[in-house]
Amino acid sequence: MSGVPGHVACVMDGNGRWAEQRGLVRTDGHRAAEAAVIDVIEAAHGAGVRWLSLYAFSTENWCRPGGEVDFLMRLVRRTLRKHALSLHARGIRCRFLGVADHRIPPLLRQAITDLMELTRDNRGMTLTVAFDHGGRRDIVEAARSLIRDGVAAEDVTEESFARHLPHPDTPDVDLVIRTSGEYRISNFMLWQVAYAEWVFPQVLWPDFRAEHFWECLDAYRQRKRRFGGVPVPLTLGKGSP
Ligand code: IPE
Ligand code: IPE
Ligand code: MG
Repeated sequence: MSGVPGHVACVMDGNGRWAEQRGLVRTDGHRAAEAAVIDVIEAAHGAGVRWLSLYAFSTENWCRPGGEVDFLMRLVRRTLRKHALSLHARGIRCRFLGVADHRIPPLLRQAITDLMELTRDNRGMTLTVAFDHGGRRDIVEAARSLIRDGVAAEDVTEESFARHLPHPDTPDVDLVIRTSGEYRISNFMLWQVAYAEWVFPQVLWPDFRAEHFWECLDAYRQRKRRFGGVPVPLTLGKGSP
């Protein structure tokens, strides 16, 4: 049995289908996603999760129609501005993973910087928003950083490599939740999910609420994590060597 996961990461998927099912346009699904995001932050915080990571925009999402991308940029900026003070009041430290592309509008960059600055000394839950994030890009950047630092090949270990990833103090992900019944990793925190447990609720992200999040925590509690070992026996077997 596992306890409360220290680090939960969510692939917030299904906004477009949620809208299509209602005869709405895809961007209405993105707008409706905000309520789910706020509910999940509250639920995670209340449950004692120390690290929550939310996948908001991937490096691949730039290939979506320009109007949808522009809408998402504006929506994220407005959402960050709207909730900054309440996140801060809850002692949540906000970070961003990615945010490298020059197409990110300056006003959004400013909102991101302001929220990080405002909440940087908070010691409650750390909320990492993966925005313009790609797991492969992070790995390539870490390799470049090692080379730039002149690290010798023999000195490259999993530990030293991980120190060159963005936010190297982030612990490995314990639980990944991907909504909408899709079973893909979609280039999300590839290094950090190496030994995560996974759950795939069918619910579309805009309908995802605290109750669904608690169900995911319950599922995690039932998991027996082995990390390549064997279950610890209560008594040692008598078999010959
Ligand atoms: C997730 O919902 C939000 C982002 C990727 C930005 P989608 O927009 O991928 O919704 P579906 O998968 O098309 O339903
Ligand atoms: C992954 O969802 C990215 C985010 C949730 C931000 P996508 O909907 O973009 O992923 P694919 O296209 O199904 O792999
Ligand atoms: Mg999707």
